[in-house]
Amino acid sequence: MAQLTAGIHHLEHHERPDYLNELSTLQHNHQQLAGLQGALVNNIATVLRLVLAIALLAAIHPLLVLLPLAGVPSLVINVYVVRNGHRVEDRVAAPRRLVLRIFQMATTRDAAKEIRLYGIADELVACTDEARREIHDLEDAATIRAAVLGALGWFIVGLGFVAAMAVVAREAAAGRATPGDVVLALTLAGSINYGVSGLASTTGWFLTNLKTGRRLAWLEDFAAEAAERATPVQAAPVPSVLRDGIRFEGVSFRYPGTEAEVLPGVDLFLPAGSTVAIVGDNGAGKTTLVKLLCRFYDPTEGRITVDGADLRQFDVAAWRERQSGCFQDFARLELLAREVVGVGDVVRVEDEVAVSAALERAHAADVSGTLPGGLSAQLGRSFDRGVEPSTGQWQKLALGRAMMRDEPLLLVLDEPTASLDAATEHALFERYAGAAARTASRSGAITILVSHRFSTVRMADLIVVVDGGRVSEIGRHEQLVANGGAYAELYGLQARAYR
Ligand SMILES: Nc1ncnc2c1ncn2[C@@H]1O[C@H](COP(=O)(O)OP(=O)(O)O)[C@@H](O)[C@H]1O
Ligand SMILES: [Mg+2]
Repeated sequence: MAQLTAGIHHLEHHERPDYLNELSTLQHNHQQLAGLQGALVNNIATVLRLVLAIALLAAIHPLLVLLPLAGVPSLVINVYVVRNGHRVEDRVAAPRRLVLRIFQMATTRDAAKEIRLYGIADELVACTDEARREIHDLEDAATIRAAVLGALGWFIVGLGFVAAMAVVAREAAAGRATPGDVVLALTLAGSINYGVSGLASTTGWFLTNLKTGRRLAWLEDFAAEAAERATPVQAAPVPSVLRDGIRFEGVSFRYPGTEAEVLPGVDLFLPAGSTVAIVGDNGAGKTTLVKLLCRFYDPTEGRITVDGADLRQFDVAAWRERQSGCFQDFARLELLAREVVGVGDVVRVEDEVAVSAALERAHAADVSGTLPGGLSAQLGRSFDRGVEPSTGQWQKLALGRAMMRDEPLLLVLDEPTASLDAATEHALFERYAGAAARTASRSGAITILVSHRFSTVRMADLIVVVDGGRVSEIGRHEQLVANGGAYAELYGLQARAYR
């Protein structure tokens, strides 16, 4: 399952609650699927035994053939109970995920400080209790219903048994059945009851697995459909060198499963070989633009072209190989420090020279000196002797990771230095922009930088101001300042504050 979900090139299934419910229920149940064949064989054997028992009973008295009918209500009830169980399972998926999520929040470090500072532990416990109560109420109601209906079913089976025995007793009294027949009838009736109950439980089991199988098939289809989009049959080759640039052509975007239009028709040209800064308020759509470029999502309308080729024509893996990036919510990979950086170009993960060079490029060579154990340190306090880097150190390692690939065509730096001081960010970009300008003339690579610090932003060749998903201003720093728009105003504010 992990392979299936992680193999999907986009992020939709990680974000939609309805999909997450399906996935968590599937995770809960999928191990049972293994025994499916055995159960099928078992069921066939049970049916054969039943047929044989009925034939033998018929020899004692034809009416006894009807005995298995008494088991029918029980079977029907069982199917209903199992189906009801599935409905309950669907309904408890969401509260169950909530309980798990709160548990993770309360037991891991991420939220530990704020949970204590704001004293919300009790509140979280109350939330969990409420969700648990909802789960138990639903499950208890289903259990009670199952017990009552089950008892009713077996009462009917019992009646059938009594009736059958009455028939046999009457036959014996009339001398038409021998004591041997009576014993045989008793045994056969018992084995029929046993068979019917076996049939009922395997049918239930079968239905449950059918549902799990359907869920698995849904996930496999979902993954297959994504794979189809990720690997077009006639994939266009990713250019080795960018000559023209990347173009957004009327790109509209809504996050899957949501209504709000985050990008309402963006037209934007990013010339080959340039450093582009994207600025704008929180929630303006900067990260969304970046995510579309990485193909974590496809535009709802319009298209993005790379040297004229639609991004969707590329094989996603091939496109990503020519990319690198560091995100606002960078990953804290708990590996050896050297590996944390090295996985940025996984084939060279063991190459210490390459790792040191990447850290150098990221202006982050000092992390190895400040971590006890240097680049061989195991990171993460969940490990014995694990070292916990500060947020800034984590960020520097993530930046180093982004610098591992030698010549990406597209480098996205989405607020990669928010945890670093302004001077470090400035120095990093000054150095980086210089190096980028040198290689860009060869590869036409584009670097995208999202930042709130205008001292860094002003260095970019092109500045894109995003407001409510639209490009409100675009140009070089001097142009935008001369235009006297929102950029000029914000730049003025920050510049004054620093003076
Ligand atoms: N995964 C998501 N699902 C739904 N909406 C999202 C998601 N990510 C971002 N948004 C919404 O898209 C808008 C733009 O977000 P984003 O691009 O992250 O802004 P920025 O990076 O400029 O701060 C916001 O209104 C945000 O709420
Ligand atoms: Mg963002």
